[in-house]
Amino acid sequence: MSATITSIAHYLPPDVYTNDFFAKYLDTTDEWIMTRTGISERRFLKEGATSDLIVPAALECIQKRGIDKNEIDCILVATVTPDHNFPSTAAVVQNKLGIESCWGFDISAACSGFVFALATAVSLVESGTAKKVLLCGADKMSTIVNFDDRTQAVLFGDGAGVCIVEKSDDASKGVLDKLMFIDGKGAPYLHQKAGGSAKKVSHETVENKEHYIYQDGQAVFKAAVVGMADVSTEIMRRNNLSSDDIAWLVPHQANLRIISATANRMGIGPEKVMINIEKYGNTTAGTIPICISEWLSKGLIKDGDNLVLSSFGAGFTWGSIYLKWHTNGIK
Ligand code: ACO
Repeated sequence: MSATITSIAHYLPPDVYTNDFFAKYLDTTDEWIMTRTGISERRFLKEGATSDLIVPAALECIQKRGIDKNEIDCILVATVTPDHNFPSTAAVVQNKLGIESCWGFDISAACSGFVFALATAVSLVESGTAKKVLLCGADKMSTIVNFDDRTQAVLFGDGAGVCIVEKSDDASKGVLDKLMFIDGKGAPYLHQKAGGSAKKVSHETVENKEHYIYQDGQAVFKAAVVGMADVSTEIMRRNNLSSDDIAWLVPHQANLRIISATANRMGIGPEKVMINIEKYGNTTAGTIPICISEWLSKGLIKDGDNLVLSSFGAGFTWGSIYLKWHTNGIK
C-alpha cells in the first residue's frame, strides 16, 4: 500500500513587496538581493494569521477533490508561525472550516515542515489511522521577520500550500520513499531567542528584538547546501534513480544559489527544477506545496512523473521525499 497526494492548492496574499520597497528604507539594492538570493518579490498578509493563509487554499483543495469537508479525518499543519503557541493551528483551521469531527496537530520543523508533515501523513494513511489527511504547509513569516535587519528582511514571504493525502489505488505510485534528519547542533545558527519556555517574553526581550528570527546567514547557507544535496543524492541512490529518471526536483525555496548547488550535485539541469523564489521569497513550510500546486495548475506534472522533494531548515532539519505522481483524484 502507498499513500499519495490526491488534491493540492495554494494561497498567496495579494499585497506584493518588491526589492525596491526595501531599498527605500534599508541599505540594500534590487541588484544585491537578486544576485545573492534570486528573490525579486514577496507577499505579506496585512491582516490575519497563518490560519487565514491556510483556509482559502484548504477550501479550494477540498473543492478540487470533490469531497465533503467532513470526509477529512485528520488535519496536520506544518508551521513555525502558528496562530498561537496553543491551541494548535490545526484546531483553529478545523473550526474555521467547520469540519465536524476530526483530529490533528501542528508540526514544527521550519523549512522542512512540509516534508516532515507529508511523511507523517503518509504513515497515518498507510497504518489505517487516517483516511483523508488535510496537510497544510504555511507560514506568516512577516510576524517574526525583523524588518530593520537587511540580512533577513528581504528573504521571507507569507504563503500556504494545502493538499489531501490518502491511500493510493496504485501501490507503485504516490510517496515511495522518505529520508529525514534533525540535528540540534544547528540551533545556534537559526532560532528565535525569546517567546518559548527557554526565555519568556519580557519588556527587555522585546526591546532587544529577541522575538524575531536570529540567523547566521552564512552558517545556514553552508549547512543547507550540504544537507539538501546529501539527502537528495542519497534518496536517488537508494531508489536507483538517475538524473534522467527525475522529472522534477522540488527544492525548498530559500536561496537560488542553494537550489542550484543541490541541482548540480544531483546532475539535474535548471529546466527540471521547480523555482518560484523570485516571486514569493522563502515562505518556509509553504514553499514546496506552493511549487507543486503552481506547476500542476500549469499542466507541467504528468502521471508517473518522478518528483524529488528536498528541504533544509532551522533545527537543523532536512529531508527528501521520492514521489511518483499519481493523477488519480487530482482535478
Ligand atoms: N543588502 C545588501 N547587503 C547585504 C544584505 C542586503 N539585503 N544582506 C547582507 N548584506 C551584506 C552583509 O552585511 C555583508 O556585508 P559586510 O561584508 O559589510 O559585513 C555582505 O552583504 C556579505 O554578507 P554575507 O552574509 O556573506 O552574504 P551572503 O552571500 O552569505 O548572503 C544570505 C546572505 C542571503 C543571508 C545567505 O547567507 C543565505 O541565503 N543564507 C541562508 C539563510 C536562509 O535561507 N535562512 C532561511 C531559513 S533556513 C532555510 O530556509 C534554508
